This record gives sequence, structure tokens and C-alpha cells, in this order.
Amino acid sequence: RAAADRIGAETPTGWATQTRPRIGDGFANTQDTDPALASNQAWAEAIRERLPAPELGAETLSAATVTTAEAVDEAIGRAEAAGRAWAATPAAERARLLHRLGDELEAARADLIAVAADEAGKLIDQADVEVSEACDFAHYYASLALEEVPGARRVPPAVTLVASPWNFPIAIPLGGVAAALAVGSAVILKPAPPARRIGAVLAEACWRAGFDPDLMCLLIVDDGDLGRTLVTDPRVGQVVLTGAAETAELFRSWRPDLPLLAETSGKNAIVVTASADLDLAAADLVTSAFGHAGQKCSAASLGILVGRVARSRRFLDQLLDAAASLKVAWPSDPGAELGPLTEVPGDKLLRGLTELGEGERWLLRPERIDERLWRPGIRMGVRPGSEFHQVEYFGPVLGLMASDTLDEAIAWQNGTAFGLTAGLHSLDAGEVQTWLDTVEAGNVYVNRTITGAIVRRQPFGGWKRSSVGPGAKAGGPNYLHVLSRWEPEASRA
Ligand code: ALA
Repeated sequence: RAAADRIGAETPTGWATQTRPRIGDGFANTQDTDPALASNQAWAEAIRERLPAPELGAETLSAATVTTAEAVDEAIGRAEAAGRAWAATPAAERARLLHRLGDELEAARADLIAVAADEAGKLIDQADVEVSEACDFAHYYASLALEEVPGARRVPPAVTLVASPWNFPIAIPLGGVAAALAVGSAVILKPAPPARRIGAVLAEACWRAGFDPDLMCLLIVDDGDLGRTLVTDPRVGQVVLTGAAETAELFRSWRPDLPLLAETSGKNAIVVTASADLDLAAADLVTSAFGHAGQKCSAASLGILVGRVARSRRFLDQLLDAAASLKVAWPSDPGAELGPLTEVPGDKLLRGLTELGEGERWLLRPERIDERLWRPGIRMGVRPGSEFHQVEYFGPVLGLMASDTLDEAIAWQNGTAFGLTAGLHSLDAGEVQTWLDTVEAGNVYVNRTITGAIVRRQPFGGWKRSSVGPGAKAGGPNYLHVLSRWEPEASRA
């Protein structure tokens, strides 16, 4: 803890636990040469000693597990009553508790990391930045809760359902929960099945901060019938979903008028032009593609190499070496750089890891160490319109495309159904401007990695099939506005 405190110092941007030095360089905007890294590693050792951590959150988990429609109904009823009272609570009080939540999360950092590593296979450095992001969400939304519109009052729905994913099992659920609580809504948190115990540890932090268990209600239900009961209950006023595009579409099919704010899938590419710093481009491609074993909606799945970059033996060798030398290991291994998949790969990911499309060949063939642990792969010759160009695989496999011009590269980068993150590596100002003017993605990054958006500094969200609903970005100034509406004071009567 002492080491963690030293390295968690404030930065000029304020909340900023996100910008403390990292154990690895999985997330951006960090300096892995920082002298504090040594103490960071010492702290990582302290976490490893806690692993495995099966007892953390287990009791809460079992108490929150619900298997009947009646129990779901009752929980929604309790949340609705708590939400009505909470909406009448002054914004300053909501903000105060949210700041306390930020502090509780910081205090629970080691537990959260240990359980994320244990349950979901997150490497310690990746879980560490997630805790930082969660703290930032709590403090940032606390500040937004205090916003006022003269002559108007904020009207939240009584109950918000937060359906959260397993790949960012700390930051994303916490962001949804904090935002809903900030606007004055009760929350039902339904974590994805592979990250339930982490949801329980998060819920415990919320309760310790002073949010009542009816107001921040943890509900562990299966995705099937009971999930549907939850989503379709009219007392659930809105759903904040982060998950696959198909899940958002399923929710809409269950309840066509559902107020839904969803951040969904991505098929993200980094374009590399001949003017780029190719050393940096290779490193950033590898980090963006293989961080958390590629299981990020923001991950780079494609590298689009323009002109002679695609024929540069030196660049390809660098890419190959950087990927092949990643240490692939379980979170308990101090040297792990590429960790396990959270779940055994399904058919789609297995195809991505084992089968080549027409004209493709392996620069680096993925290798199975264990069902959930794979050495990374890089395929060359991905063709526009092919399956690998279009499909999100969510695993440690990167595809390379070779384009003749920047315009062609941008057309391919934009030529998928999704528009979540996008990157460009170029040192030519004209190229950068052309790209910025035409790229279709919610989060665009130049000469850096494309994962690891930072709360407030880089609000996160997508375009096209990567977003459903009003489209406000998480960690940005508009997020609370779409989770509640402003009504003239006069309508209070
Ligand atoms: N917010 C996460 C990132 O930017 C998904 O990588």
C-alpha cells in the first residue's frame, strides 16, 4: 500500500490516478521509464502474494445471485423505491458520496486487482489501470453531478440497469454505476457472467461508500430468461450496456422502445505511412493489438501499411520480434506481458487464431499453450472485404493489409460496420490532417496506441455500429445529460 500511495500522486489533470506510472506499458500516456516504476513492481509483488483470491467477494456474490423471476421483480421494486428517494437528494450529497466511492475504490485497489486477475485472467498492470479509471469515473461524475441549468431540474429515471462486460470488469461497470447514481437514479448492476465476483467486490465498495444496497443493487442473473425479464421490465427506465453489438440488438428486439445507451463492438485499425517513426509504430501496433490478449473493444485488430511500409523487411521483422518476444503467461507470473483469454475461445475466435483467408499467410502463427493461453499471431495479406477485415475476433491476432495510398488505407479503415477507435502513424502534417478530416471513429489517436482512453481527457465512445442510443461518450461532459433530462422548474407542480 505504501508504495501504491507514493506512485498514486496527483497530476495536473486532477483526478488522475489514471496517469500514474504503470507496471507495463499496456495503457498510453505513461512513461514506463519513470523511476517510480521500481516501487510499482514491488507493489505488484504484493498483489501476486494475494493470488489466488477465491474468498474475495464470494459471500456477496452468493447473496446477490437470483434464480427466479419473482426475486428479480422484488429487487426492481426495492430499487425503484430507493431511486425515488435518491432523486430528491441534493446534488451536493450525491457528489459527496461519489467522491467517497472514489476513495473506497482506491482503498480496495489490491482486492480489485487480485479478483480481476483470479476470476477474469487480467494481468496485474491491466487491472491496475482499470482501478485508476474507476476512481476517475467516480470523481469525475461527482463533479458533473453538481452542474446546474438555471430554471430547470434534473429528472432521472428511477432505475437504471447497468449491464457490464467481462473484459473491463472494474472500470466499465463502475463508470455506468457512478453515472447513474450521479444523476439521481437507482442502479441495478448486472455484471457479465465471467466477471461476477469482481462485480461483487465493486458493489461492496459502493455500499461502504454509503450507497444503500437497494439503491446500488447487485443482481447476479443468467443472460437468458432472467436477463430478458430484467431488460423488459417497464420499471427499468434505461439500460447502460457495454457489450457486443449483437447484445444491443437483442435488447432492442426484446423491447423496441428501450432507452438504451450502448457502447458495443469495434474493428479497429492503425494506418502506418512511410513518413512514420516505424520503431514507434511497431511498438504501438503490438501494444494495441495484444494488450489484455486483444480482448478490448478498442484493440487494434488491423494494421494498414501504406506503400513501402508493407514491403519494409525491417519493419515487419520488428513487428514480428516485438510480438514473438511477449511473455505469454498467467497473471501470477511476474513477467507476464500477454495473459490468458477470459474464456475458452469460441468458434469465431478459434477461426481467427487458426484459419487463413484467401491470399493470407502467417507472419507469426498463433500457438496454443493452454485452452485459454495463446501466443499471439500476425497474419499478412488481409484483403479488403474479407472476413478478417470485417469481423471482430477479440483475441491475440492482428491482421496486416497493404495499401497503395493513404486514401485507400483510410477507405479500408472506414470500410467496416464499426467506428470505435482508429490510429494513424505519420510524421507528415498533411497526411495527419487528411486522416483527421476523413476517419470515421469515435476515438482517434495519432502516433500512439489506440487503447486506454483517459476519463475526461479522452471521452470514450464510437460511431456507426459501435454505438447505440444517443451516443454520448463515457468519461465526457455529455454523459450525464443523456442519462437524465432537464425539466423546467415550473413543471414541479
Ligand atoms: N476505454 C477502453 C479503452 O480506451 C475501452 O481502451
